[in-house]
Amino acid sequence: MAERLASRLGAETGVIETRRFPDGESYVRLVTPVAGRRVLLVCTLDRPDAKFLPLIFAAATARELGAAEVILAAPYLAYLRQDRRFHAGEAVTSRHAAKLLGGAFDRLVCIDPHLHRYHDLAEIFAIPALALHAAPLLASWIAASVEDPFLIGPDRESEQWVGAVAARAGAPFAVLEKVRHGDREVEIRAHDLEKIGRRTPVLIDDIVSSGRTMLEAVRLLRRSTQAPPVCLAVHGLFSEGADLALEAAGATLATCNTVCHASNAIDVSGLLASGLRSCSATEPA
Ligand code: R5P
Repeated sequence: MAERLASRLGAETGVIETRRFPDGESYVRLVTPVAGRRVLLVCTLDRPDAKFLPLIFAAATARELGAAEVILAAPYLAYLRQDRRFHAGEAVTSRHAAKLLGGAFDRLVCIDPHLHRYHDLAEIFAIPALALHAAPLLASWIAASVEDPFLIGPDRESEQWVGAVAARAGAPFAVLEKVRHGDREVEIRAHDLEKIGRRTPVLIDDIVSSGRTMLEAVRLLRRSTQAPPVCLAVHGLFSEGADLALEAAGATLATCNTVCHASNAIDVSGLLASGLRSCSATEPA
């Protein structure tokens, strides 16, 4: 992604060296000189814990070495789900992660952050934080790749989003009802799936994490529709073999390349580059 962005922005691809000392501490070295330059660190934050500290160290080092601006491009921005203290004593990690990143970077750009109870990243980030939306790219992909699609959102919250993609793709859509009982326990209900008929069901979600939402929806669809479903997501995290389970259940997977995965079918580098251009007066160096 860094190389794609560098090519789109006409920027140099810098070299950064990271490794772990035998005791597990992170070593970070910016090999490319950064003094007086605008530095864009490209780091998608799936499986974030191992990436977080080296990222903060790299940003802090770029500042120390005189970078004119330090920008984060996080195609997938993690730690947004814990946006409230649901039980006494819980860490509201979204706020803490935003504070850490906000202290290290001058601005950030990401794609479809998982905003649930927050309406805007500005509610937790003190730095300019631009959220870009992949919906038009999903709609174009569907229009070009799926014959006779019927779009399906897995829960009520997805209605507005799936509706927008459906309108752009010129396809009908429906939303299912989801009840989450735990991290890996999800129940999906649906009414009149018969209306899908012979169309190809395309399940759309912003993120596939444990994959339970998609899996339960796929199982439901396999019982009542004819064509095998397509699972389309912006961010495919596919933890604990969720991708294999979905494929075994008869689904075809397609994702954006915000997180590197074999299902990547939609390139978001153009979207990210245009976002970076729009929030910067000059091109990153
Ligand atoms: C929920 O709000 C999201 O849009 C996704 O449906 C959810 O995060 C998917 O999680 P999982 O793959 O763990 O079911």
